[in-house]
Amino acid sequence: MSKYPSGKRKSIKSPVAKRVKASENPSSYVLRMLLASSPYYVSGSLLAQKLKMSRVGVWSRINKLRRQGLSIDASQNRGYRLAAEPDLLNQPLLEAWMRESGKTCKVFVHDEVDSTNSFAERLLANGEKGPFAVLANSQKEGRGRLGRSWHSPRGGNLYLSVGFMPNVDILKLRSFTLWQGIQIATLLRSLTGIEGISVKWPNDLVHDKGKVGGMLTEASIDCERVRSLVFGIGLNVNCPLKRFPSSLAKISTSLEDLKGESFRIHEIAAKVIKATLTGYAACLKGETEKNLVGKWNELDALADRRVVVSGGKKKMVGTARGIDSSGALQLKLKNGRTKAIQAGEVTLKE
Ligand code: BTN
Repeated sequence: MSKYPSGKRKSIKSPVAKRVKASENPSSYVLRMLLASSPYYVSGSLLAQKLKMSRVGVWSRINKLRRQGLSIDASQNRGYRLAAEPDLLNQPLLEAWMRESGKTCKVFVHDEVDSTNSFAERLLANGEKGPFAVLANSQKEGRGRLGRSWHSPRGGNLYLSVGFMPNVDILKLRSFTLWQGIQIATLLRSLTGIEGISVKWPNDLVHDKGKVGGMLTEASIDCERVRSLVFGIGLNVNCPLKRFPSSLAKISTSLEDLKGESFRIHEIAAKVIKATLTGYAACLKGETEKNLVGKWNELDALADRRVVVSGGKKKMVGTARGIDSSGALQLKLKNGRTKAIQAGEVTLKE
């Protein structure tokens, strides 16, 4: 568990309390109040008054939250406060953060799964209606692009998939992964203050120090229509790189490694889910057509870099010049021509 900083304020001010509706389930209300006021205390009498219950009733809700894995400090004069962020996923805390972020969907939280993408695909196949999110503390068979595996040690990192049932023309979602990369890189920059987080075509989140995360979108397509869609993201948040195989550790980084401090995994998960849901809605509205190229350029880690593109047995060397409106990488070749790359693996030329 990572400790929250200690707060000196005795109890939260009413504007925070007003943001939380007392009509929701009492335990979830208490948790949201604790979250909204963190790292400060919330007075027991304020909670009792809002919930129209006795202070003993509040105390029993606090104990229920403790039994659900949350660490809550109690002080006779000041009330209650969240003491620490659990390292492992805690469903009530995640749901509280999602409500706090203003965008929610159904969530499935697991300790270990084969792959959150596979789990989401099975849910969709069994009739679960999207959107919903699947998260796990670890994956036994985490999948990456091009048939690779995604190393998924238990605790500290984010393994998340969001399932959708779009039933729309395939063209509407052709730039979906690139668009989501823009949304998530923008979010991470503002949430963490790490300015150097960028996108690397087509599905990586990177920093000069290494890869921070990767995205994998898988869809079932029928008659040019996307029937179901799973967007998966793996993000290195707090898990120490020494828990990665050395070959991977030397090309990877994490938010904690970059910032020198740990992050609240539940807050990051809730905000990434929100960004994914918002990005999806924008894609369906056709916003990507207007904004994709410009926004990508602002975050493009490969801009004007000499790169090698490999696909099958062929390799091409050139200078990366952003993307076109279809999302294809623009590769300027030695002969002066520009080639649109639809798929492949891009590495920086030494
Ligand atoms: C890549 O960079 O190759 C994409 C990696 C995507 C990994 C995530 S982790 C959550 C979701 N479940 C998976 O099996 N894969 C994605």
